[in-house]
Amino acid sequence: MGSMKRILVIGAKGMLGRDLVETLRTSFPGDEITGWDVEEIDIQEERSTVTRIKNLEPGVIVNVAAYTDVDGCELNEKKAFAINAEGVKHVALGAVRCGAKVVTLSTDYIFDGKKGSPYVEEDPPNPLNVYGRSKWKGEQYVQELAKDPLIIRTQWLYGKHGKNFVASILRQAREKASLSVVNDQIGSPTYTVDLSHAIALLIERKARGIFHVANNDSCTWYHYARRILELSGIEGAKVVPVSSKELAYPAVRPAYSVLDTQKLKREAGLTLRPWTEALKDYLSSNPERA
Ligand SMILES: NC(=O)c1ccc[n+]([C@@H]2O[C@H](COP(=O)([O-])OP(=O)(O)OC[C@H]3O[C@@H](n4cnc5c(N)ncnc54)[C@H](OP(=O)(O)O)[C@@H]3O)[C@@H](O)[C@H]2O)c1
Repeated sequence: MGSMKRILVIGAKGMLGRDLVETLRTSFPGDEITGWDVEEIDIQEERSTVTRIKNLEPGVIVNVAAYTDVDGCELNEKKAFAINAEGVKHVALGAVRCGAKVVTLSTDYIFDGKKGSPYVEEDPPNPLNVYGRSKWKGEQYVQELAKDPLIIRTQWLYGKHGKNFVASILRQAREKASLSVVNDQIGSPTYTVDLSHAIALLIERKARGIFHVANNDSCTWYHYARRILELSGIEGAKVVPVSSKELAYPAVRPAYSVLDTQKLKREAGLTLRPWTEALKDYLSSNPERA
């Protein structure tokens, strides 16, 4: 038996956080998994964040806490940076105080979407919106301050514990005869359960540096919406493809932000299943959300 590790998940009540805590408890049965959210630790506050982390003395900290409302961030830049950049910095400072390894989550929205082919870990970030800029700053803090950090960039998440695109499309399809969905942004819908397994594997392998993790294959939001309805057997609602300009959300999103996940395959031997497979699994195992 190896010595027991204490793994701290910050943001444990979020969509990814809930599945991640469950997966870590299964993947590391001999270890202590502690889940904290904003009631236990407000990462905006430097002193209390550092003290709480130091007192717990975790071996690994996985930070999945963030201000994830992309349009909200656009309208509240101060809050976006206070959580996604400074907050992440405070977590890194706490980790340094007790020698913990830091794992933090980042996003495809650090890229501008102009490359036209899948983004590799070394591609230069150029975020188009406040959310992306704040997450990119958080990455930089972690790289500067923590020892051998692991940064996991992912995208287009859905899971059973949060407001998400799948649930929202199913709800709208029940309420309306037609729904307008953006058809000029391409990415890879990613299931939080699959991502959680990848995070556990990367922790086990003691991976460091940047890794892109997403389900395989890509689509537009419009094709994604159609597939959701198809797989759920909903026929009445019409899905209308529209441009981002027509919907005019406050935050600009990258047109093409598919993440290249070859590094994950090369270094950890893992490829996540195609997004359509994961989606089928989600829909059949969460009938109450379908
Ligand atoms: N969702 C996506 O499509 C997506 C895509 C790419 C990357 N990511 C990244 O993946 C990670 C997980 O995302 P998610 O969708 O699971 O997010 P989420 O559901 O919004 O969960 C984030 C959690 O962090 C908590 N939190 C917010 N501010 C905090 C603070 N100051 N101190 C401590 N906890 C705080 C939130 O609490 P409240 O709910 O009470 O605010 C929430 O429980 C994030 O780093 C996100 O940037 C997400």
